[in-house]
Amino acid sequence: MRKDAEKYTKYKKCGATLSSPRMRCPNLGTSYGCDAKPKAGPKGGACYISCMPSTNASTPARRAIPPVPVLSLAAFAGARRAALPSLLDGADVRLVTSGRIAIGLALRALGVGAGDVVLVPAYHSPSMVPPAHWCGADVAFYRVRSDTAPDLADIEAHVAKGNVKAILATHFFGIPHDLAPLRALCDRHGIGLVEDCAHAFFGARDGVAVGSVGDYAIGSTMKFFPVYEGGCLVSRRHRLDVVLHGAGPGFEMKAALNALEAAFAYGRLPVLRMLLALPLRLKSALWHALKSRGTRAGGAGASAAPALAPSSSDSSFEFDARWADKRSSWLSRTVLRAVSPARIVARRRRNYLELQRALDGAPGCRPLFDSLPDGACPWMFPLLVDRPQDVSDALLRAGVPMTRFGATLWPGVDASVCANSADLGRRLIAFPCHQALDDAERAWLHAQARQALEACAAVPA
Ligand SMILES: Cc1ncc(COP(=O)(O)O)c(C=O)c1O
Repeated sequence: MRKDAEKYTKYKKCGATLSSPRMRCPNLGTSYGCDAKPKAGPKGGACYISCMPSTNASTPARRAIPPVPVLSLAAFAGARRAALPSLLDGADVRLVTSGRIAIGLALRALGVGAGDVVLVPAYHSPSMVPPAHWCGADVAFYRVRSDTAPDLADIEAHVAKGNVKAILATHFFGIPHDLAPLRALCDRHGIGLVEDCAHAFFGARDGVAVGSVGDYAIGSTMKFFPVYEGGCLVSRRHRLDVVLHGAGPGFEMKAALNALEAAFAYGRLPVLRMLLALPLRLKSALWHALKSRGTRAGGAGASAAPALAPSSSDSSFEFDARWADKRSSWLSRTVLRAVSPARIVARRRRNYLELQRALDGAPGCRPLFDSLPDGACPWMFPLLVDRPQDVSDALLRAGVPMTRFGATLWPGVDASVCANSADLGRRLIAFPCHQALDDAERAWLHAQARQALEACAAVPA
């Protein structure tokens, strides 16, 4: 795998800013992302270029319904106590700006460094890989089964090669795996386990709460809460020796405005929108003026101004080490405390089951999971589709939000590494089932998804 990665990936230290000059990849012809790959040990400010496409390319500019949770008054109504445990229950917690930063901090806490290998599932988001590079480690990819569960025999084979210091295990789409066998394997070999709960902020399997099996667990709060940025590092087994600092007023302002503007864009909080209309217009005018002055003043230099917020909030796979010691914004932390977890769990489960029923019998597809387990709070609804390109093109044309999770894998990860991952990446389309979708939006989503599947099935391949 290391050889493959070298064939496709050329790292280049690019300085300390996120918006550093982009290069073209000589192999793939795509823009370079800005994945962190320091030579040794975590270092703030290091930013490296690799040839991963820097953004999730299947994301259209504007979706007809909110692709992620947005703020509304209703989000604050409802019970505090959810039917399912949360990642934060009974754990030492640090609220950071993204899940990938939390992965980096978890690996660092496990002592991962140069010469170590971190095992990552072959089915993954490319954002899961650079945190290991940030620690100076190499990454190897282990196979998953067709239901996304870790292939323990393949993990054993990797461990037998030596140098494995940590394993990342993911509860994909919010369906908790039984990680007891993997925990036992890690204990036998003295390997650290990081439980990746980016898709599973709430949940339990056989009475075992998500996040309680790993030495450390991470979450991506922005996938479950109506916030612009946010992730968390948690542990129920170790005290966290991580000190965080505020990222400054520019970041706080941007996190708040972006969360509000996302809500306004989908018709939420109309009174607040009216009250803030003038200040928001002034802000936009000021922003445009500053931007055009910067562009006139110095082209590339202008784009090197420090970013106010991490690119992790903008469908990017990038990892910027400057956010490793930054606390999540005040608004994100407040929303996390104030919204109703019970409502999130109940509505996500209801929306998932409703969508499953709506697509029952639709041609050319089947849900990845036969049923929704009682202990699951889903991130999205994953559907396996026979003609994924045609269907996703039709959905994009209609403005339907969706995620082709795993469609972009780390360079070198293909069917020869893991046939199941390649197949899932090719065929899977995940639809939103988050708590902020209202009745009309869900009905529209059901109709559009079914229509796209039926229209594609009616045309010969
Ligand atoms: C399984 C998984 N783990 C970790 C991450 C990283 O989370 P974040 O985007 O909050 O950095 C993602 C992002 O999509 C993910 O899907």
